[in-house]
Amino acid sequence: MTKVPPKQQDDPNTTGHSWDGIEEFDNPMPRWWLWTFYACMVWGLGYSIAYPAWPLVSSATAGLLGYSTRAEVAVEIAAVEQNNAGINAELAAAELTEISANADLNGYAVSAGAAVFRTWCTQCHGSGAAGFAGYPNLLDDDWLWGGDIESIHTTIAHGIRNEDDPDARYSQMPAFDGILEPEEIAQVVNHVMSLSGRAADPALAAPGAEIFADNCAACHGENGLGGREVGAPNLADAIWLYGGDAETLTETVTYSRYGVMPPWTQRLSEAQVRAVALYVHQLGGGE
Ligand code: HEC
Ligand code: HEC
Repeated sequence: MTKVPPKQQDDPNTTGHSWDGIEEFDNPMPRWWLWTFYACMVWGLGYSIAYPAWPLVSSATAGLLGYSTRAEVAVEIAAVEQNNAGINAELAAAELTEISANADLNGYAVSAGAAVFRTWCTQCHGSGAAGFAGYPNLLDDDWLWGGDIESIHTTIAHGIRNEDDPDARYSQMPAFDGILEPEEIAQVVNHVMSLSGRAADPALAAPGAEIFADNCAACHGENGLGGREVGAPNLADAIWLYGGDAETLTETVTYSRYGVMPPWTQRLSEAQVRAVALYVHQLGGGE
């Protein structure tokens, strides 16, 4: 066992701490480091006064310079809009049916329309526009309300069965609950299934054809091919808005459906409505 030597309290280069004989030197930070450190503190303080920095309950201190990234984006958007003002005015004023013949204008409209679609339409129609149950596929040539550019434009501009636009497309299939007996609903459902080539019970489908002629043909057409004046779907193809199985069909006929789309003229400019209409028209099913 060696004895711990006594501390050399007068040594100016140690802190006086000693562990098991190991002493701690007292070397000051290098000057340059210290001054950089102080400079950082001053700069940080200045920055947090000049720029948005300190979090508050619902926002942050604004900073003396009034800088905001949001305002910067707004300026950039305004600049892009200013750049496009000419072509947007041209798009809004052109004859709707003649735009597709103008390659420049049509190209601009379709790419602007794609951006509008991504922002405003995908939540209901899907990012690829293929739709979901109750939200029609816009890629195919099966149209409820018409697939030429003017019909598509009207549908988008005013929407469907909404309360916000008096010019919205409107129709209402009655709920047949109470009009037809459950047995008759089963019969007409089997007739509808036979229309689209699905396996149906012929003993039910035969009387169902008569019920269809009396109750459904006025809107869906004698052969079930649909009626665009009232947005009545074609029932004789393999494309279903809600579903073509017996259960879904029974639910549709018993309780009816009420698909709603908002009008877009209230949120989008005429140029944007036209752009997205042209975009939808060229997706594949445009007439
Ligand atoms: C809130 C959901 C919703 C949004 C958002 C929406 N739609 Fe629709 N859209 C519908 C529904 C529901 C229908 C079908 C209504 C019906 O049953 O007739 C429809 C129908 C349509 C049709 C008619 C299709 C046909 O077969 O005739 C077009 C075209 C259309 N939408 C385009 C758009 C565009 C373009 C946008 C974006 C600007 C958009 N929709 C946004 C719900 C929506
Ligand atoms: C007043 C017109 C009208 C009458 C009458 C009518 N329908 Fe409809 N039907 C519509 C409309 C409009 C829709 C679309 C509803 C929607 O999208 O909200 C529709 C939708 C349907 C659908 C859904 C199709 C799909 O693709 O999912 C079926 C099935 C249907 N009708 C069957 C019938 C049958 C069967 C009858 C007769 C018992 C009938 N409808 C009578 C207007 C009518």
